[in-house]
Amino acid sequence: MSLTSATSTAAPSLCSVASAAKLGSTVAPLYHAGSTIPKHQTNFIIAQGTASPFTREPQYRHHSTINLARPGGTFPIRRYNGFAEKTSSTPARCFSTTSVSRLRDFFPSQETKYIRQTPAAWQHHDFSEEEMLNVTPAHREPRSWGDWSAWKLIRFCRWGMDLATGLRAEQQSDKSKPTTAIVASKPLTEAQWLVRFVFLESIAGVPGMVAGMLRHLRSLRRMKRDNGWIETLLEESYNERMHLLTFMKMCEPGWFMKTMILGAQGVFFNALFCSYLVSPKICHRFVGYLEEEAVHTYTRCIKEIEQGLLPKWSDPSFQIPELAVQYWHMPEGRRTMRDLILYIRADEAVHRGVNHTLGNLDYKEDPNPFVSDYKAEAKGHKPNAVARGTGYERDEVIG
Ligand SMILES: [Fe+2]
Ligand SMILES: [Fe+2]
Repeated sequence: MSLTSATSTAAPSLCSVASAAKLGSTVAPLYHAGSTIPKHQTNFIIAQGTASPFTREPQYRHHSTINLARPGGTFPIRRYNGFAEKTSSTPARCFSTTSVSRLRDFFPSQETKYIRQTPAAWQHHDFSEEEMLNVTPAHREPRSWGDWSAWKLIRFCRWGMDLATGLRAEQQSDKSKPTTAIVASKPLTEAQWLVRFVFLESIAGVPGMVAGMLRHLRSLRRMKRDNGWIETLLEESYNERMHLLTFMKMCEPGWFMKTMILGAQGVFFNALFCSYLVSPKICHRFVGYLEEEAVHTYTRCIKEIEQGLLPKWSDPSFQIPELAVQYWHMPEGRRTMRDLILYIRADEAVHRGVNHTLGNLDYKEDPNPFVSDYKAEAKGHKPNAVARGTGYERDEVIG
């Protein structure tokens, strides 16, 4: 039974939190997901779509507003299409201010008189299936004071995100191996994953743009060439933005999430801007550690999908956004949520390898090895970022 038809049929009988929860666990797990997040009500609108045979764009027929509520508290569960109701008159911290009736597509493509479509600025470099499956969580041990500082800062950020997204102790993996251990006694829900994805991607898109911009300006004022770093850095931020846009096609955060993202971006952009002027090396190491977290996050999500712990995403009728299909050139028959996360994880593995490597180079003089042609006698020295989680040392790629 498709999610759409199941929910449409069952909708009139939804009249209480208990019945919603019971039904939600079977036909719309994202309704159900809210009960597992303890401290925060993160009202998150999630769209479920079916493809139109004419446009291939998902046509959103109904939407779920999920409440990630405090235990013991009473919070409204909004439903719609004739089955909207409130379970409490207590005004809740509503984290979505978008009218459900208006939620169709968060950013539909702009129709104009003359323009047919606007292609991606950077075409995605395809991965082989083997490359994607071989990505594993990895950790580069800090080797200097700068590495150690970057690592500890990332640990602090991860702690903050776990706290903000209401991750319970039993949902945490082994804290002694935070970027490699993926086993936890309780899975995250689809809603929790989406909250983490959206927040992570909105942050991850910043460093490449800051670093690329500063290197661009440095090249202009010093009147020297950049040796290929700018393009890779800007492409990285573009790629991260595509990750974010992909998840934004699946959900819409409310004002609380948007405020968090706004605040985090304001702080992060400025901090990174100043830090990159002082030490690009430490900043690239910091991003390398951030990407270790991203690979870890997506690896754990893939594992939970494969184990059937995220039933909505492993449902055969679940469709990923068309935007993702086009950007990653996803072949027919390999367009499940697991496939999508495999692509995204491989991207993160590239960022991880690139940034750990750039952190090992002389940022003033060394060319970017990932876009350079190598001499014939240097066969085997051209790096492949997706395959080297800890990055390449300078003598391996520069000589
Ligand atoms: Fe990303
Ligand atoms: Fe990334």
